[in-house]
Amino acid sequence: MSTGMNIKITRNPNPSTPPAGDYGFGQIFTPHMFIMDYKNGAWADPRIVPYGPFSLDPAAKVLHYGQEIFEGMKAYKNSDDGSVHMFRPDKNIRRFNISCGRMCMPEVDSDVFMKALDLLIDVDREWVPESPDALYIRPTMISTQTGLGVKASTDYIFYVIIGPVGSYFAGGINPLKLRVEEKFVRSAPGGTGFAKTGGNYAAAMLPIQEAQGAGYDNIIWLDAREMKYVEEMGAMNIMFVYDDKIITAPAGDTILDGVTRDSVGVLLKDMELNWVEEHPVIAQIIEDMHSGKLKEVFACGTAAVVTPVGVMHYQGEDHQVADGNEGPLTLRLRQDLCGIHDGNSELHPEWVHKVPVK
Ligand SMILES: Cc1ncc(COP(=O)(O)O)c(C=O)c1O
Repeated sequence: MSTGMNIKITRNPNPSTPPAGDYGFGQIFTPHMFIMDYKNGAWADPRIVPYGPFSLDPAAKVLHYGQEIFEGMKAYKNSDDGSVHMFRPDKNIRRFNISCGRMCMPEVDSDVFMKALDLLIDVDREWVPESPDALYIRPTMISTQTGLGVKASTDYIFYVIIGPVGSYFAGGINPLKLRVEEKFVRSAPGGTGFAKTGGNYAAAMLPIQEAQGAGYDNIIWLDAREMKYVEEMGAMNIMFVYDDKIITAPAGDTILDGVTRDSVGVLLKDMELNWVEEHPVIAQIIEDMHSGKLKEVFACGTAAVVTPVGVMHYQGEDHQVADGNEGPLTLRLRQDLCGIHDGNSELHPEWVHKVPVK
């Protein structure tokens, strides 16, 4: 498919207007969406249409075998000139196509993908909220072939829905209270951990629900083989700050390689700090919390940017990180990244993609 491929726009005859108040997360969608169909071995008919439900055969493969993938990214409005920009969309597009490979699904041409995002956001531009709120972008692919054979589908729909979301920090910065998950695992070597596919999230619901029922915000996943090394969190990566290094799990096949994770790594190297991708040993982390060697722990991801971790529960006990409050490096990284998102920073202008006005 060439970039010149025309995206047809059918305007919503009754578009709603953005509601006032707190948007929450993933509850509100704009009046339009992008859709494209895969049939007979090719993508066809890219179009922007009024937001609305699909009709799917009850035997569609996605409903039985979960052959689906998605992405999560944001667009932000600049407070000075009202321009709208996305943060490193090329990274999400690349990760989407990596997920395609693992889930036996057809890739989407990166230029077509980018053009779809640009056009859709431009059509619903008035829905991009004032910063620190943002427009959440959810590109998704589902398998639609009818039939119960356990085999990759021949037909797919790629679609993008968007909607305003509130700032994660509206209520202030509350350091996270996390439970290290000691019974369930998220992903195993050779599995689908590095792909952004729904099954990974479905399998995480029970452990997260149990941890939340016990009073924790989320969980920390350990490796499946030995339950010894920290991997990541429910929907964020995690980093551990020492005087001489900041460590995080390497991006192998068992964790989702976060765009925020990569960006934090670059910012830390810019600061001439020693960012190391090595397997954090949970027992050592806990020991270093008690000895005071571990200075800060933070989670990072599109939703919460960079957020401090105050408590980690492991082997029956709560363990506090330093004084339990946000540390200076966590704060600085969040400020730097939020400045780049808002278009108010001189750091890494190459990470900002301005959505063109048609
Ligand atoms: C399992 C998981 N890990 C990490 C992340 C962080 O990735 P990113 O920084 O690209 O949002 C996410 C969020 O998408 C996630 O779902």
